[in-house]
Amino acid sequence: MADTRAQWGSRIGFILAAAGSAVGLGNMWKFPYITGENGGGAFVLVYLASILLVGLPIMIGEILLGRTSQRSTVGAFRKLAPGTAWAGVGWLGVAAGIVILSYYSVVAGWAMHYVYLSLTGSIAGQSADTLNQTFGGLVTDSSLNLMWHTAFMAITIAIVIGGVQKGVERAARLLMPLLLLMMGAMLIYASTLDGFGKALDFVFGFHTEALTGAGVLEAVGHSFFTLSVGMGAMLTYGSYLKRDDDLVGSAIYISVLDTLVALMACLVLFPITFTQGMEPAAGPGLVFKNMPIAFASLLGGGLWSVVFFSLLTFAALTSSISLLEVAASYFIDERGWSRKRAVLTIAGVIFALGIPSALSNSTEIFGSDFAALTAPAFEVVGVEAGKNWFDTFDYLASNWMLPLGGLGIAAFAAWRVGGEARQQSFAAGSSLGKVKAFYLAWLTLLRYVVPIAIILVMLHALGALG
Ligand code: PFF
Repeated sequence: MADTRAQWGSRIGFILAAAGSAVGLGNMWKFPYITGENGGGAFVLVYLASILLVGLPIMIGEILLGRTSQRSTVGAFRKLAPGTAWAGVGWLGVAAGIVILSYYSVVAGWAMHYVYLSLTGSIAGQSADTLNQTFGGLVTDSSLNLMWHTAFMAITIAIVIGGVQKGVERAARLLMPLLLLMMGAMLIYASTLDGFGKALDFVFGFHTEALTGAGVLEAVGHSFFTLSVGMGAMLTYGSYLKRDDDLVGSAIYISVLDTLVALMACLVLFPITFTQGMEPAAGPGLVFKNMPIAFASLLGGGLWSVVFFSLLTFAALTSSISLLEVAASYFIDERGWSRKRAVLTIAGVIFALGIPSALSNSTEIFGSDFAALTAPAFEVVGVEAGKNWFDTFDYLASNWMLPLGGLGIAAFAAWRVGGEARQQSFAAGSSLGKVKAFYLAWLTLLRYVVPIAIILVMLHALGALG
């Protein structure tokens, strides 16, 4: 079976595809807005520490499990620990992929709508007030949200049916470098704004006042989300690696790239925010309301706007394909389904699950207020008042499912996989991986620091630590 399995065309193809999975809406849409809501500073610090001490070690473990087993997430645990409950970690990953993609697709749909608006010239040059209304109008419009959700899922399906090498790798090869270039150019522009100094202080200054227990959970949860770890996406991509590809180097490269894009997004958005005298805690609309303001003052602003929102859409696409691949590859590997059947079936489920998210902010659906209808149900399951379906899915997936999955993956890779095999796999094809001290540091993080950190953060968020 391993012989007929798909593989990456080249090592750089893997890195770009995995970085494509990591870099997405999480970096450009979510990270800036949750940083804004949590007061910057200390939140960013917790996030960076969590990437380095928790996310990166898990990523290495995850890719290692995929490459060793040459299976996708459930199959990997079944093969390495037959007949045990470890497969449950794989199942949790499949579930997380389905939940995340269902609402991820809705946000990606917003980005697509902004491409359309940019093309028709209704974005660049608008006042902050008008942009505010444009975003508000979009999220409350149920048919628009449904239409774009459908369109985005259709494109994701088409690429994933195309298969690992042709579809996923090819898309990532072109788009990642373009995205970096565009963000670099925007950063240069932002550094000329009056608000740049204030933005630097907001993002990197040590402001602890605003950080809460829930904020710490969110920072740690987001480090999983942004690196695409904790649900087997990296494991699945790793399973298409050859056994002698450099694993450690790739994981470091992916994490650095991902963090860079997230910080760049903040350093572009917050200077605009402060220069305009706007609030950093603008919520999910931040990137949609603020970027167009920058385009207004740039030569050829309309074009910048088209390019930016297209790149945002593509960044979302290289992530959504990995989300779909996790669930689809389970049916392909474990159930022997054809790729087409697996993708269509699972994407159908995800599409349906995304409908309530698409309607979350809708004030009129079948003659009633959808948001008002669902609110009481969420309060019953203990979700904060004011959170709708969309927020709830995002909250559950990134703050709980991914960290729990990450805990399972870390425990498995650090304790269950045989020592000799683990060390060999860590070192294969990697000069860094051959350094004993480096291996030991990784193992120590994975064995002790990762589980303790995740459990403490969760207990803290549940209020169990007083
Ligand atoms: N890392 C992606 C982002 O930051 O947008 C989201 C994501 C993709 C999470 C794939 C999890 C995953 F498996």
